[in-house]
Amino acid sequence: MPKQSTDQLKTDRSSLVHRIRYALRNPSRIAPHVLRSARDLRLRLTHRDHVSYYRAVMASDAARDPRAAVGSRNEERWLALGEMQFDYLVEHGLKPGHRMLDIGCGNLRAGWRFIDHLDTGGYYGIDISPDILIAGKKVLAERGLQHKLPHLTLTQDLTFDFLPDDSFDVVHAHSVFSHSPVEVIDECLRHVGRVLAPGGFFDFTFDRTEGTEHHVLREDFYYRTETLVALAEKHGLRARFMEDWEERPHGQSKIRVTVPE
Ligand SMILES: C[S@@+](CC[C@H](N)C(=O)[O-])C[C@H]1O[C@@H](n2cnc3c(N)ncnc32)[C@H](O)[C@@H]1O
Repeated sequence: MPKQSTDQLKTDRSSLVHRIRYALRNPSRIAPHVLRSARDLRLRLTHRDHVSYYRAVMASDAARDPRAAVGSRNEERWLALGEMQFDYLVEHGLKPGHRMLDIGCGNLRAGWRFIDHLDTGGYYGIDISPDILIAGKKVLAERGLQHKLPHLTLTQDLTFDFLPDDSFDVVHAHSVFSHSPVEVIDECLRHVGRVLAPGGFFDFTFDRTEGTEHHVLREDFYYRTETLVALAEKHGLRARFMEDWEERPHGQSKIRVTVPE
């Protein structure tokens, strides 16, 4: 996906004007959008908290196509998106001896490459969706990576309470906060410093807006960079916008969080 233009960065996708204009430009997308809105409304009414709601969204999406459920329209894009994440972290120093926590690992689009690269047992993937983790286990088997003994764990929150202090050289969340309300991000940032190893970092992507923060169907959330940087600083972390990620053909932006020495 190409980078957003300045106009796109200011767009409020939840506004009625935008939705009408979008519908007029893309009439073939109206019916799928109406169906998705109806499904999401039903799931919101039957699931009280965001994680339960989004888990139900993932169950519905993964039943149709696990690759599409993590946002890739075909196998080629699924492979390319995984490779992009992998190459970036390797360029930023991910070594086989490192231990990595992949938050919202999905069906291991990038995870299988990390598992292959890291020493045995070095990869920890967590996700709120049992359906996508099952799809991830299939990918692991297809890639013949069972001997790497990755940890794949279902989670309900981002407190990391089952993980020890100072454990991970790299924590990573790709396309997770783009589906998360601010309370979920706040919880993650409150706790992530405890599990980061000295000198480690936490990279996350987000859907960036330079206009009003908003969400669409409580599935896609748009944040200003300064909001997320301030949230990290509130929890005693340092956060910086990763300019070099902007050069990659990906619609989201990236922030790196570290614990100040
Ligand atoms: C768009 S997919 C991306 C998956 C993977 N990171 C990748 O790039 O292929 C988002 C994933 O995050 C998971 N997820 C969403 N909210 C989460 C949360 N609060 N904690 C953990 N996982 C979450 C979803 O179940 C889904 O598997």
